[in-house]
Amino acid sequence: MNTSPSAAPSIPTPTLPRYPLERAGHLHPAPSLLGLPPVSPLRFAGGAEGLLVTGFEAARAVLSNPLLSAERWRGDDPVRPVPRRVRERRGLGPGAFLATDDPEHARYRTLLTGQFTVRRMRALQPRVEQVVEHCLDGLEAAGRPADLVAHFALPVPSLIICELLGVPYTERDRFQRASGTLLRQDLSAESFDAAVDAIDAFLGEMIAAKRRSPDDDLVSLLIASGQVTDEEICGMCRLLLVAGHETTMNMLSLGTFALLNDPEQLARLRADDDLVPFAVEELLRYLAIVNAFPVRTALEDTEIAGVPVPAGTSVAVSVPAANRDPALVEDPDRLDVGRRRSSHLAFGYGIHQCLGQHLARIELAAGYRGLLRRFPALRLAVPADAVPLRSDMVIYGAHELPVTW
Ligand code: HEM
Repeated sequence: MNTSPSAAPSIPTPTLPRYPLERAGHLHPAPSLLGLPPVSPLRFAGGAEGLLVTGFEAARAVLSNPLLSAERWRGDDPVRPVPRRVRERRGLGPGAFLATDDPEHARYRTLLTGQFTVRRMRALQPRVEQVVEHCLDGLEAAGRPADLVAHFALPVPSLIICELLGVPYTERDRFQRASGTLLRQDLSAESFDAAVDAIDAFLGEMIAAKRRSPDDDLVSLLIASGQVTDEEICGMCRLLLVAGHETTMNMLSLGTFALLNDPEQLARLRADDDLVPFAVEELLRYLAIVNAFPVRTALEDTEIAGVPVPAGTSVAVSVPAANRDPALVEDPDRLDVGRRRSSHLAFGYGIHQCLGQHLARIELAAGYRGLLRRFPALRLAVPADAVPLRSDMVIYGAHELPVTW
């Protein structure tokens, strides 16, 4: 079995699209994705050739194929230039189960599944609503104009994931900047090392403290399970901490941006509160903020939608393209907050489908609802094209969103 990326097929196409692909403005997938077949050749930023999947059904076939491994840390990173030696030395370490395959992946995920069920998350809803109100107070107190990212979109999910894990939010400076660094498209070996070290030092101290005096939180629960080492708990918590706030933060800010740019959809949502859950699904589909993953690597020769995938080939799933597949929804390029059936891949598919999706839905619904109620005249404080985009990050969104009311 050859898992080296050097075994990727040599596809004789002179102008392969380069992955990750630049989006078209704030809201739309890269124009070069338009009209591609469901599976086509591409070149990763690291230089390797691979395959790009843009069709919804083909994407699901990739994400449910056990021969396509999520352990991309074993080879050259197809998406970013982090050198192989750095990942061979440490990778993301034990416990970071997003980048592991079953059965190792299942061993970690099973320990957490019960904590993120729909029922558990519904029970958390009143607390999420309280946090939203508290952050809205902060936004209002910041005065007009204010940055919606710094005062609202970032603190809401950060506060919640910190509470769930049992991490002191007052020490957020010790992980927030490092977490942002890990998501940079141009991540270097040195910054990768420094960012992981910073988060792990912080988590290590906290795990030691919970061992001494356990509490009613996820870290204490993992310790009490007796099934994972402190190093594994650290990897699991690093994943939850990063995944738990960077994603929802960008959906809150980019979703608000999309609504403020579409007065008709905004008015519909303001007029009918019952539309909020549908608007959340539609915004997840339409915005598809996960820009540069999932990526999988073939452990053995396999195929997707009839296209051969030789062992060692990396396959990138474009969530923005798959979510706009015309076979999925009618008129996919239109934002329609009332869409009743809005299937999408925003949370992935298969064994790695987002563990925090029910939490994210509750945070987004409470967030959009609270924001629109509190600020009936909410609007952008700068022209739309002056909003700084996260085109340099693997999760899309806005670095800042200046708003007024
Ligand atoms: C996995 C998206 C919120 C925790 C994933 C994946 C996607 C995703 C696409 C699959 C990646 C892959 O297959 O390689 C999102 C989006 C979110 C969000 C769009 C918000 C709108 C959250 C939250 C948490 C979280 C709030 C915190 C609990 C995770 C974890 C995984 C994951 C732990 C790995 C699951 C596994 O490997 O089994 N997420 N996520 N996510 N997400 Fe989320």
